[in-house]
Amino acid sequence: MEIRVQNLGPEQWHGDVLLAPACKGESLPQSCPALDRAAPWLSVAPGLRDFAGKDGELALLHGHPELAVPRVLAVGLGSRSQADAACVRRAVASGLRFCRKKGYASVVLPEVLLAGLCGGRERLLEESVCAALLALHRPALLKKPDPDEPAEPQWLAVAFDPADMPRDGQAAVRRGEHAAWAVNLARDLAAMPANRLSPALLAERAQRVARENGLICTVLDAAELEREGLGCLLAVGQGSARAPRLIVLEHAPTGHEEERPIVFVGKGITFDSGGLCLKPSANMAQMKGDMAGAAVVLATLAAVAKEGIARRVLGLLPCADNMPGGAAMRPGDVVCAANGDSVEIVNTDAEGRLALCDALVYAQKHWNLSALVDIVTLTGACAVALGPELAGLFTDDNSLAERIRAAGGSAGEEYWPLPLWKPYAKILKSEVADICHTGPREGGAINAALFLQHFVREDVRWAHLDIAGVDWTDKAESLTGVGPTGFGVRTLINLAAGGVE
Ligand code: BES
Ligand code: MN
Ligand code: ZN
Repeated sequence: MEIRVQNLGPEQWHGDVLLAPACKGESLPQSCPALDRAAPWLSVAPGLRDFAGKDGELALLHGHPELAVPRVLAVGLGSRSQADAACVRRAVASGLRFCRKKGYASVVLPEVLLAGLCGGRERLLEESVCAALLALHRPALLKKPDPDEPAEPQWLAVAFDPADMPRDGQAAVRRGEHAAWAVNLARDLAAMPANRLSPALLAERAQRVARENGLICTVLDAAELEREGLGCLLAVGQGSARAPRLIVLEHAPTGHEEERPIVFVGKGITFDSGGLCLKPSANMAQMKGDMAGAAVVLATLAAVAKEGIARRVLGLLPCADNMPGGAAMRPGDVVCAANGDSVEIVNTDAEGRLALCDALVYAQKHWNLSALVDIVTLTGACAVALGPELAGLFTDDNSLAERIRAAGGSAGEEYWPLPLWKPYAKILKSEVADICHTGPREGGAINAALFLQHFVREDVRWAHLDIAGVDWTDKAESLTGVGPTGFGVRTLINLAAGGVE
């Protein structure tokens, strides 16, 4: 769907349907004179009598088909005092889904209807555009199209009142578009069946995305990983016929080439079978999405480049396939991490932290970083603790924690702090090696985070985001269908845009 901007008075608004977010207990034509001018029949429309403006409520009103605006779709926001960005996102998303179901080709959203809500005009504009594009997203179909499905909406026009344009209106629309494009890219990648997305293919895709958006992309193959000493990442990939890769992406705008970069690291397990400690078969298919973190980082870097954010940002994607082939790592094996520490492998299903620890070391060795943030589908324990809406946030750096929570919160991605409880570090002591990579089930998300922290120098500003549980949804919502959610992309874009200082 194309996003258009119209600088036309209400008399010239046109399209198949006008999308009208409305608050509870407020009559549409009275509360918005511009709308009354665009669709004068609204004031006598009987359908409006039943519309209360409750959160999530929809009412479709028909006028004369030859009027410039033949239909109005009213979408409820709930009471004005509580109508925030989240309500606007949901309202626009469910409105757009309704339009698609009806087969409407063109939708007009008058910006004036957002102008009076709390949250700031530009911001609500960005959220609306983003929500519309997220709501209509469907991962690339690998089946033949259904001839009975109505065609997708062709365009959404944001109609500005030429007499009252918000200063940053166009840029806000663009930001919403870029953010949605990136979230949808991350969703597409995570939805890709594992047979169609190996570490090497993900690297090719990253190179293409980099080329198209002006990022620098370097890919380390197995031989180079060997030379760099990334023994843990290599161990994870050993059981697969498809060798690991480390993908490095860089956004270094002119004048910022030598700046201390923000580095994002995303887990890129293209399939997590559990390895020799094989997972149960129920839900194993979902483990094609165990590269959600890598997808989020790749999509973020592309969006950061599209936005031309004036800051140096890097993305590291350690990619491997966790399979139980004949050369697979075994429980009891001892491998060597990139920092020289020997690591005892206990459970081959705890592969994420192995891939990650080497990437964290690599990042600290090669760059003088301003912050290091990893995003990982790391532990079922985190999903059990926080449920389907909250991601786990681990850091000892309070100001970085606040930055991340604010960056996520404004986009509807929420994080809850979990502790890096130092006394539990003794759990990771090994009889035979410098460190053991798994602790008991109890406190599983914390144990994993402490393992990662072992590889981060104390002077480095580091945060770990555990997105297991929020990366995927089994229930379709207004903004997300069943499958990968792309959770984290908007957080990282906002974090990069706002900086970490
Ligand atoms: N990729 C999984 C974690 C996961 C589980 C992500 C469910 C999304 C949904 C990870 O590699 C894993 O298997 N973790 C184990 C660790 C355990 C063996 C210590 C887990 O959480 O059970
Ligand atoms: Mn696993
Ligand atoms: Zn995994």
